[in-house]
Amino acid sequence: MTKATLDQIIASHAGRDGALLPILHDIQHAFGCVDAAAEAALAAALNLSRAEVHGVVSFYHDFTPDADPRPEVQVCRAESCKARGVEAIIGAAEAAAGSRVKLKTVYCLGLCSSGPNARVGERVYARLDSAALVKLVENA
Ligand code: FES
Repeated sequence: MTKATLDQIIASHAGRDGALLPILHDIQHAFGCVDAAAEAALAAALNLSRAEVHGVVSFYHDFTPDADPRPEVQVCRAESCKARGVEAIIGAAEAAAGSRVKLKTVYCLGLCSSGPNARVGERVYARLDSAALVKLVENA
């Protein structure tokens, strides 16, 4: 995490109301994590306490304190996707992921009527069966 990049991210949101969450997302995207140094810099820039910033960081699962270099596949395991069979196909995905791919459980990707759903990067994949989910994991 470079201070220059961190300062640039914070400056890009200068004067914006409710800047904390957008900045945190940008930091997570740029560095793969929001570490203690980023929390301190953000607290100082936004005139918040470190506890306030840390409270937000630790509340949302999108923010992680350490970078994980593995590719990530997010699999929705919320109620609609459960009703549409995600629990029957998750085992094959876990086996395909092994330790190479981070298989992350999320709760709703916004396509509830067409589950089971997964997301890789910015793209959401719908109506997955076991073979399609395994293929996503293998190609991640
Ligand atoms: S419950 Fe899975 S996308 Fe909404």
